[in-house]
Amino acid sequence: MSGSKSTEASIDHLGIAVRSIEQALGFYRDQLGLAVGPRETVVQEKVNVAMLPLEESRIELLEPTEEDSPVGKFLAKRGEGLHHVALKVPDLEAAVARLKNSGARLLNEPRAGAGGHLYVFVHPNSAGGVLLELIQG
Ligand code: CO
Repeated sequence: MSGSKSTEASIDHLGIAVRSIEQALGFYRDQLGLAVGPRETVVQEKVNVAMLPLEESRIELLEPTEEDSPVGKFLAKRGEGLHHVALKVPDLEAAVARLKNSGARLLNEPRAGAGGHLYVFVHPNSAGGVLLELIQG
């Protein structure tokens, strides 16, 4: 540990791509016993979302509303599975500026997503092979 930077980031949620939220709830809700929180459609991502609250983070089930969408393409290519990891950061603007300055590849400018929170996605090529979502804490 270098200890040079204190980020105060935390895991906000894990995004899981599924073909059908209803079908996935058969496992996560009915078999595993998790509660189901808010459900919504995020139009600009063409995705239906169900949030399953955990102790200090959440599971986000993602079901595409169209095949021609980021999650639809992910399912076609990779099948169901872990789609992204979302970190909550105290200052998203500063994080974005730092990443841009250091040449990291961002997939969008900060914008409002599920729950109205500002978010950006960082390309897996810049993040150790993981699609990373950063959310304003
Ligand atoms: Co997410």
